[in-house]
Amino acid sequence: MRVFVIGAAGGVGRRLSKLLTGQGDDVTGMHRGADQAEAVAASGARPLLGDLVHDTVDELALRFQWHDAVVFSAGAHGTGRDQTTLIDGKGLEKAAEAAGLAGVRRFLLVSVFPEAGRSREPTEGFEHYMRVKKQADVLLSRSGLDWVIVRPGTLVDNAGEGRVTAGPAVSYGDTRRDDVAAFLAAVLHEPRLNRVIVEVTSGDEPVADAVRRLASG
Ligand SMILES: NC(=O)c1ccc[n+]([C@@H]2O[C@H](COP(=O)([O-])OP(=O)(O)OC[C@H]3O[C@@H](n4cnc5c(N)ncnc54)[C@H](OP(=O)(O)O)[C@@H]3O)[C@@H](O)[C@H]2O)c1
Repeated sequence: MRVFVIGAAGGVGRRLSKLLTGQGDDVTGMHRGADQAEAVAASGARPLLGDLVHDTVDELALRFQWHDAVVFSAGAHGTGRDQTTLIDGKGLEKAAEAAGLAGVRRFLLVSVFPEAGRSREPTEGFEHYMRVKKQADVLLSRSGLDWVIVRPGTLVDNAGEGRVTAGPAVSYGDTRRDDVAAFLAAVLHEPRLNRVIVEVTSGDEPVADAVRRLASG
């Protein structure tokens, strides 16, 4: 499978690229910093410089051509309201439109639980992030693509366990980036899981079993 990962130098993107290339998939890893090419290549992906803010829909579509799936795992990561709007919001909109133009139907989005951060004092920046992420979910879910929206809990870097709790609605909790990557990799290879939102936290069910269970309804 030929997979285009947006945000390939990021915590989830790098792990996903490594898993996919390790199992024989062909991965193009889009990164925005020239100095990230080495890290992307080390994950086994083909590094490709690109920027969701500056690239046009047509430019993105050209890059997506000949791929079987796009995974959007980019994010502004707390760098401000405007960046959040441009990357997590407008960037997703552009990428989804570009996938349609390029004829790449399969599109996975790494989103966020609606109740993320509820235990903290709300800040305007975080509330904006939550609104933008939700709007991105709305936009993708109304597209004609074969989308899956994955909502992980708070992302942590502890080594993965290969086990998750996953479903259309699960209680909020932490999620290991390794396990999110494993979940995304399994979803990419399970076309029956389509046009659904899946919430994912750390848990007890092996990733492959969870994806198979969700796919068979
Ligand atoms: N943190 C959490 O607890 C949490 C919880 C649920 C969901 N999420 C979501 O999960 C996703 C992945 O998380 P993560 O930990 O992998 O994040 P991350 O490490 O910050 O990775 C995101 C990647 O996106 C890239 N990016 C940012 N702007 C871009 C642009 N204009 N064009 C192309 N690439 C761009 C970043 O590049 P640079 O390296 O140049 O910045 C970074 O490599 C994010 O969308 C995040 O919102 C996070």
